[in-house]
Amino acid sequence: MTRRIRGISGPTVSVEFSGLKLYERLYVGHAMLTGEVVRLDRDRAVVQVYEDTKGLGIDEPVNIVGMPLTVRLGPGLLAGMFDGLQRPLKRLREDMGPFIIRGKQMYALDHMKRWRFSPLKRKGDDVRTGDILGYVEEGAFKHLITCNCDGRIVWITDGEFSLGEPIGKLEDGKEIFGCHEWPVRMSRPYKRKFPPSEPLVTGQRCIDFLFPIARGGTVILPGGFGTGKTILEQAIAKSADVDIVVYVGCGERGNEMADLIDEFATLSDPWTGRGLMERTILVVNTSNMPVAAREASIYTAATMAEYYRDMGYHVLLLADSLSRWAEALREISSSLEEMPGEEGYPTYLASRLSGFFERAGVVETLSGRIGSLSMVLSVSPPGGDFTEPVTQACLRAAGAFLMLDTSLAHRRHFPAINYFQSYSLYEKDIVRHFNEQISSEWAGLMQRCRELLQAEERLREVAEIIGVEGLQDADMILMKVAEMIRIEFLCQNAYAEDAFSPPEKTVSKIREVVEFYDSSISRLREGVSRNQ
Ligand SMILES: Nc1ncnc2c1ncn2[C@@H]1O[C@H](COP(=O)(O)OP(=O)(O)OP(=O)(O)O)[C@@H](O)[C@H]1O
Ligand SMILES: [Mg+2]
Repeated sequence: MTRRIRGISGPTVSVEFSGLKLYERLYVGHAMLTGEVVRLDRDRAVVQVYEDTKGLGIDEPVNIVGMPLTVRLGPGLLAGMFDGLQRPLKRLREDMGPFIIRGKQMYALDHMKRWRFSPLKRKGDDVRTGDILGYVEEGAFKHLITCNCDGRIVWITDGEFSLGEPIGKLEDGKEIFGCHEWPVRMSRPYKRKFPPSEPLVTGQRCIDFLFPIARGGTVILPGGFGTGKTILEQAIAKSADVDIVVYVGCGERGNEMADLIDEFATLSDPWTGRGLMERTILVVNTSNMPVAAREASIYTAATMAEYYRDMGYHVLLLADSLSRWAEALREISSSLEEMPGEEGYPTYLASRLSGFFERAGVVETLSGRIGSLSMVLSVSPPGGDFTEPVTQACLRAAGAFLMLDTSLAHRRHFPAINYFQSYSLYEKDIVRHFNEQISSEWAGLMQRCRELLQAEERLREVAEIIGVEGLQDADMILMKVAEMIRIEFLCQNAYAEDAFSPPEKTVSKIREVVEFYDSSISRLREGVSRNQ
């Protein structure tokens, strides 16, 4: 079915209305640009176009696809690199060189590749939506193939197949395939959700020790320009203790993403020793790519992440940066001539954001497994002003707030996490876990570490007035030890071997410092002067 373009305004076009549905996918113009209906008025439909609208003309045709914006889910996503609309970038480059031709459609998954299917159900079995039919080996992972309809199996394969061929058939004649489409804006179903209570070890001492985060939790990393958001996101992507990582480069510099791709290809996962890319999916929608697709990119990533969660895996979604996503939302909203809210962002910014955060969590999947989707999202408030709307909206929705501090970054204290103003709502449960699993001293040491840092802060004010020499010996020792905590414990150079610190190393490192402090103080009490 074809409609005509009636008007164009930036990334949106208006189209003849009849028969269109909200969030329906369309191909716009002769170039067949992917678009989505975002508003239906009395006499026209407004379509958000996910590619550059340059050169589009009035009266060009608009083709209806008959379904919403979807992603393709099946074996072959891991180690993949996609754009915001899930086009496979590696295969696009092989096909047409380094520049994506607008309107080029390509399946996200390779339909020629053959996979070995091992069935877990047999002919005659009754299956329901969400039941596991069998699996394929995708690298080191068992990629479970689930059923998306109910019925009795009359045929199921046991052998090689490609994604274009059916792997089974139901009594009612319905064929089952190894891949399927899922609308990006709809979260995938699960049986129930649990509160996050298991640790997500990041390998970053400051996070794991002072602000521990949970699998299934949501974390925001707000920080001004150059405070180390990208480096920290990438460090977490490399060393987080999860099965699968989905990393979205959302509106940030392309060269950073290129570096990440080169680096990931050579590194291995510190937990399993396997190649890092084997567990990673990259979604690339950098600043030089169409702005509107940025809006879709985080949903594309979340849907792929949920798909692996549904197989019972622990998945981590990282996005850098959510502010660029919000800017895309603002641009689209203004071209739709919607009523602007604070700082020009649409009034539904907060609800959109919290709706997105809702997709994280620990769930019991339809097949009865436990999987989790955690989110670590960076936010770049302009001018480092944390009162701006995106940071505030994230703050209300997220479970942990790791504030990156410009003054720490200036002092080259990286990761520049402000250890006084950050917080994690998961702290209580996770510390209990670390206390039981890693070391019974964990909670006590954490308390001591915080006290020393706070005492240093108070003493620093005193020292500014009377000078460091005026401090008592015990205070001098405290200042020295707190400095050791900051420089040797909390700082972690992302380019050195120390970039990854497992919990055992973290706790032994802080134990050494605290023991050093205690022995110095007791020696002092025994009358040994600091000059001896
Ligand atoms: N953990 C770290 N170890 C060593 N150096 C770091 C670390 N984190 C940040 N840096 C230094 O800070 C610089 C800026 O970091 P990064 O690009 O991550 O900041 P950003 O907050 O993402 O900046 P922008 O706002 O421009 O996106 C890096 O080039 C690096 O030199
Ligand atoms: Mg950055």
